Amino acid sequence: MSKQIRKILVTSALPYANGPIHIGHLVEYIQTDIWVRFQKQRGHTCHYVCADDAHGTPIMLRAQQEGITPEQLIADTWTQHNADFKDFNVAFDNFYSTHSDETKHYAELIYARLQEQGHIHSKTITQAYDPVKNMFLPDRFIKGECPKCGAADQYGDNCEVCSATYAPTDLINPISAISGEKPIEKDSEHYFFKLADFEKMLQKWTKSGHLQEQVANKLNEWFETGLQDWDISRDAPYFGFEIPGAPGKFFYVWLDAPVGYMGSFQKLCDDSGLDFAEYWDKDSSTELYHFIGKDIVYFHALFWPAMLTGAGFRTPTAIFAHGFLTVNGEKMSKSRGTFIKARTYLEHLNPEYLRYYFAAKLNNRVEDIDLNFEDFSQRVNTDLVNKVVNIASRCSGFIKKRFDGKLSAECAEPALFAEFVDASEDIAQLYESREYGKAMRAISGLADKANQYIDDKQPWIVAKQEDSDQQLQDICSVGINLFYVIACYLKPVVPEMVAKAEQFLNAGEFGWPEQLTPLTDHSINKFKPLMTRVDPAKLAALIEASKENLEKKAPAPKKTSKAKAPEQAAETIEFDDFAKIDLRVALIEKAELVEGADKLLRLSLSLGDETRQVLAGIRSAYTPEQLEGRLTVMVANLKPRKMRFGISEGMVLAAGPGGDELWILSPDDGAKPGMRIK
Ligand code: MSP
Ligand code: ZN
Repeated sequence: MSKQIRKILVTSALPYANGPIHIGHLVEYIQTDIWVRFQKQRGHTCHYVCADDAHGTPIMLRAQQEGITPEQLIADTWTQHNADFKDFNVAFDNFYSTHSDETKHYAELIYARLQEQGHIHSKTITQAYDPVKNMFLPDRFIKGECPKCGAADQYGDNCEVCSATYAPTDLINPISAISGEKPIEKDSEHYFFKLADFEKMLQKWTKSGHLQEQVANKLNEWFETGLQDWDISRDAPYFGFEIPGAPGKFFYVWLDAPVGYMGSFQKLCDDSGLDFAEYWDKDSSTELYHFIGKDIVYFHALFWPAMLTGAGFRTPTAIFAHGFLTVNGEKMSKSRGTFIKARTYLEHLNPEYLRYYFAAKLNNRVEDIDLNFEDFSQRVNTDLVNKVVNIASRCSGFIKKRFDGKLSAECAEPALFAEFVDASEDIAQLYESREYGKAMRAISGLADKANQYIDDKQPWIVAKQEDSDQQLQDICSVGINLFYVIACYLKPVVPEMVAKAEQFLNAGEFGWPEQLTPLTDHSINKFKPLMTRVDPAKLAALIEASKENLEKKAPAPKKTSKAKAPEQAAETIEFDDFAKIDLRVALIEKAELVEGADKLLRLSLSLGDETRQVLAGIRSAYTPEQLEGRLTVMVANLKPRKMRFGISEGMVLAAGPGGDELWILSPDDGAKPGMRIK
C-alpha cells in the first residue's frame, strides 16, 4: 500500500501584539500544534505558520501610554509570545509579525488586484473625532453616560449597568476615552470592499464542505441579512500599512491580518527554499487549513475567501473553528484567579498536563470547553501517570536489573502487539478529524489492556520463582513493547514526555506505528520518570499567582469593572411606579454572539406564548452555552428599542458591577416561563 504524501499548510489565528498569551489562546495553539505534529509524524509534508497581529489603534495607543514606539511594543511582545509558544511546545515552522515587508507586499498586491477588478469603492462617512488627539475614535474609545439609566463612564455601544444598547452617538456627554475631550463629528473618505460582489462564490464555497456544519448554518443567517460593504481603511494616525495612492489612509488591521498568513509563509519559503506559489496559486493542489476561534468566523469564512478569490489566489481547503475556554464553568476571571497567563502557568506546572487535558476535552465541533481544576488533576494523574507511564515503570526495573537492559529475542505475545498496532488507522482517523477526546479514550483503552496483561502475568511473582528468567523477560518485554506503541500514539499531544520515552527505549524517533514491529533482542536505557503527578500545592499556587497579577497590574486601566457602576441607593418610588414594570420569568431558548458587538448576546426569551429578542450586554460574563435552557427574569413591557444590531424587545435583569462580574437572576425551581413577578 503506497501512501500518498500530502502537502499541507496550516495556520493558527494571529494573536494581538498588545497582550500576553493566556490559557484561552492556548486551546487554539495546542489544538493546531497537535494536528500538525500528527501530520508530520504520519510522514506528510506539513508547514505550520503564525505571526503576531501587530497593527491597529489599540496597539498604537498602548505604545503611547507606555511611552515607547509601536515598533518597540510589538518587538517586546513578539519575544514574549515566541517564548510562551516555545515553552508550551507549540512548534511553528515560522512565527512572524504582520508588520513585515512580506505581509505589506501581499496586502498591497491583493488590494491592487481587487481595485483593478472594481471591487473597491470609496465614500465619505461621518465619525466621532477627538479634536485634541486629532484622530477618529473607534467605538470602544468613546465613553459617556448611558442614555437609558444615566450610569457614568459607559463605553461604546452598550451599558454595562443596565444592558441597554445604543449607538455611541446616543451617549450623553460623550467624551473621548483618550483625551477626555468631547468628540466632534467629522467627515472622511473611506475605502470599502464590495463583499456582495462575491455573494455567488461565497454561497457556493460555504456550502461545499470547507466549513463545519454549525459555521455554515451561521453563515446562512448572514447571507439572509445581506452582505454589507466592508470598510477597509482607517485615517492617520494609525499603526499599519499606508494604502498606496491614498496618503494618510491605512489598511484596517483586519485587512492585513489574514494576509499575515501569507507573509509568514513567504518568509519560511525564503528561509527554506519552499515554493510559495505551490501553496497559494489558484490551481494549487496542496491543502490549506486555518484553525480559528468561533469569534472570528466572519473574517475567515467570508472576507478572506472573497479577498483571495478576487485577487486570484486559492481559497482554504477548510476552516476549523473551535469554541471558547471557560474555567470551572465560568468565563476566565481575573478576580477569581482563572485568567491565567501562559507564563504564569509555566512557572508552576508542566505544560504537557495542559496539552493532554485540552486533547482529552477537544472535539471537532464549535463547542466551548471547560477547564475544571479537579478534573484536570484527575485526568492527568489517572490517564497519563498512573496508566501510561506506569506500564513502563512496572517492567523496566526487571529488564534493567535481571537482563542487563535487554529485551527478549522474540515477542511472546505477537497477537496482542498486533492488536495495538492495528488500532493505528482508527486512532489516525480520530486525530485527522480533530476528535482528540475520542483519540485519547482509545489510547487509554489500550493502556488499560497493557496494564491488565501485566496484572494477569504478575511479573513480581514470576520473579521470585526458580527457572523463570525467560518467562520474566518475556512478560516485561511485552509490557515495554505495548508501552512503545502507546507512546507513539501520544506523541502529537505530549511530545516532551515521548521524547523521554524515545531516549528510554533507545529506538530512534517514533513514527506513526502503522508498520511497527516489536523491539526484540534490543537494549533499552535506564528508566527515568517520564511525568510526575500534578502537585496540588503548585496548582493552588498558580491560581494564587494569577490573582496577584491583577493587583500588581500596572497603570490603572481605563476600564475597571470595579471603579465604575457605582451601586448608589436609588430614590424612593411610589408602589404604582413599581407596579408599572412587568417583570416576567423567561426561558432563554437561544443565546448567540452578535457579530461586531463584543459585549452583546442576542437572546431569544420565551414567555410561554411568545418569544422576545433581547440584546443583552452580558457577553463578558456568560457564554451562549451557559445560558441556553436557563430561566431568568425579564422586564417584559419595556418599549422595544432599535439598536444598531437589531431591535431589543425587553431587558434581562442581572446583578454586579459589570464586565465579567455580572450575574443574571433566576427564579427558584417550579417557576414557569411567562409567570408574572410581583
Ligand atoms: N488578531 C486576531 C486574529 C487575526 S487572524 C488573521 C485575534 N487575536 S486574539 O489574540 O484575540 O485571538 C487569537 C485567537 O485566540 C483567536 O482565534 C481567538 O478566537 C482565540 N482565543 C482568544 N481567547 C480565547 C479563549 N478564551 N478561548 C479559546 N480561544 C480563544 O482575534
Ligand atoms: Zn445604562
